Amino acid sequence: MPIKIQVCADAQEVARIAAGKLIEQVRDKPETVLGLATGSTPEQTYFEITRLAEGEDVSFRRVSSYNMDEYRGLAGSHPQSYRYYMQEKLFKHLDIKPENTHLLDGRAKDCAAECAAFEARIRAGGGIDLWLLGIGTNGHIAFNEPGSSFECRTRLVDLSKETIAANSDGRFFKDPAEVPRQALTVGIATIFDARKIVLLATGEKKAAAIAAAVEGPRTQDLPASRLQEHPDCLFLLDPAAASKLTRRA
Ligand code: F6R
Repeated sequence: MPIKIQVCADAQEVARIAAGKLIEQVRDKPETVLGLATGSTPEQTYFEITRLAEGEDVSFRRVSSYNMDEYRGLAGSHPQSYRYYMQEKLFKHLDIKPENTHLLDGRAKDCAAECAAFEARIRAGGGIDLWLLGIGTNGHIAFNEPGSSFECRTRLVDLSKETIAANSDGRFFKDPAEVPRQALTVGIATIFDARKIVLLATGEKKAAAIAAAVEGPRTQDLPASRLQEHPDCLFLLDPAAASKLTRRA
């Protein structure tokens, strides 16, 4: 199945449609297992989810969630940790049970054991129904940087210079020196196992990675190109992120 592409009017519409899909998933299957991303792109989507959940009275009581990654060395109380981000942007606004929200522990002493346990927990929970993804300007998904094997699973990785620079542009960290050099991340194979994938991308900066992921060769140099073989993968894009696609009708 080729990647399905939906070009929305703007970033707001990307968020509204993504939130609508997630709410529909939870309504259809109240015990849904979600895979979640952090970063700038899904922030508005999380806002829309909390708005919709309240307005339409959708309960997340039976939902469980798994996040893609966490910086190594940051406690969940650190304002730049992904646990903190998820808590503030989404979890505290929903009736999801805290014990059902799973994030890798950035301060785990034994990272290999932490990563293996995370994979096992996903499997024991029945696998991910819907994974909401972002994409890096270099085509990374989660923190699987270019060159990562398509078969890789949850593990400790070094962040690329490009990712460190992207995350210290003032949105999250102010200075590259503040950005942790490593992270725990799910693998490309972990993401690929999800029954459905919805990838969000907005802005001109993502256009080259999107075009390469959709229309380029399937290559480990562009981790998101792995999604070309997924049976149910949708890219929700704003016009700027879609601007380098050439095969659109
Ligand atoms: C986030 C993650 C990353 C981001 C990507 C895009 O959990 O793993 O892959 O999705 O770096 O980030 P933004 O949305 O900030 O451009």
